[in-house]
Amino acid sequence: MRSVLVTGASSGIGRAVAKALLRQGYFVFGTSRDCSQFETSHSHFLPVEMDFSTLSLLAEQAKQLQIKHPSISVIVFCAGYGRFGSLEQFSYQQIDSLMTVNFTGQAVLARAFVPGFKRKDRADLIFIGSESALQGRRQGAVYCASKFAVRGFSQALREECAKSQVKVTLINPGMVKTEFFEPLAFEPGDDESNYILPEDLAAAVNYILMTRPGIVVDELVINPLNKVVKFK
Ligand SMILES: NC(=O)c1ccc[n+]([C@@H]2O[C@H](COP(=O)([O-])OP(=O)(O)OC[C@H]3O[C@@H](n4cnc5c(N)ncnc54)[C@H](OP(=O)(O)O)[C@@H]3O)[C@@H](O)[C@H]2O)c1
Repeated sequence: MRSVLVTGASSGIGRAVAKALLRQGYFVFGTSRDCSQFETSHSHFLPVEMDFSTLSLLAEQAKQLQIKHPSISVIVFCAGYGRFGSLEQFSYQQIDSLMTVNFTGQAVLARAFVPGFKRKDRADLIFIGSESALQGRRQGAVYCASKFAVRGFSQALREECAKSQVKVTLINPGMVKTEFFEPLAFEPGDDESNYILPEDLAAAVNYILMTRPGIVVDELVINPLNKVVKFK
C-alpha cells in the first residue's frame, strides 16, 4: 500500500483526508505545527511536526523527510489558513505570512519530493486550492493571490511532470465546514446545502488516487449547492 504525506492533518480537510486514507490501508504521515494535537495512535500513522511559515527550516526538513521515507509517493497539500480584509488592514508581515504558508511553503515541500517522484512508477501531488483561486473577490486580495499562486504552480507543474508518472491535481472547494472559519468574521450558512463537508473532499482525493495510469484529474471545482455566507 502507498505512503501518503498529508499536510495540515490536525484539522478540517487534512484530518478528514488522513482518516479516510488510514481506513483504506494507506500509511499516512500527517503534519501539524504541534503534533500533541493528534489523538490517534493508529499503527499506520506517523505525526510530523512542520511549520510552513519558516522556509529556511522547512526546506531542510522536507529534504530529510524525503530521504528518510522514500516510500512516500503521494502528498496532499491541505495546510493553510484564511485572513480576509481590505488591503490596508494587512501589515507587510501579514501579507508575507499568508503567501508563505498558503503558497511558498507548499512549493518548497513539493520541490523536495518532485525529483524522487519522477523516478517512481506512480506519484501524486494533490493541492487544495479554493474558489478564491478562480476569481478575485472583495476583502480577499492577499488570500486570493495566495490561491491563484497555488493554481498557477499546480497547472505548470502538471505540464512539467507529464512525461513522468507524476499526476498533479488541484481541488478548488467553495466553503467547507471546518475550523478554518473559527478566527474569521463569517462562516457558511447552517443548511447542509450551504457547505461542503471535509469528508466530501476526502472522497474526491480517494477518486483521484484511484484513477488508472494514463489519465490525470487536472482540476476539480466543488461547491455547496447554495452559497450562503453567514456573518457572526
Ligand atoms: N474551509 C474552507 O472553506 C476552505 C475552502 C477552500 C479552501 N480551503 C483551504 O483548505 C486548506 C485547509 O483548510 P481547512 O478548512 O482544513 O482549515 P483548518 O481546519 O483550519 O485546518 C488548517 C490546517 O492547516 C495547518 N496550518 C495552518 N497554518 C499552518 C502553518 N503555518 N504551518 C503548518 N501548518 C499550518 C493547521 O495545522 P496546525 O494548526 O496543527 O499547525 C491545520 O491542520 C487551506 O489551504 C484552506 O485555504 C478551505
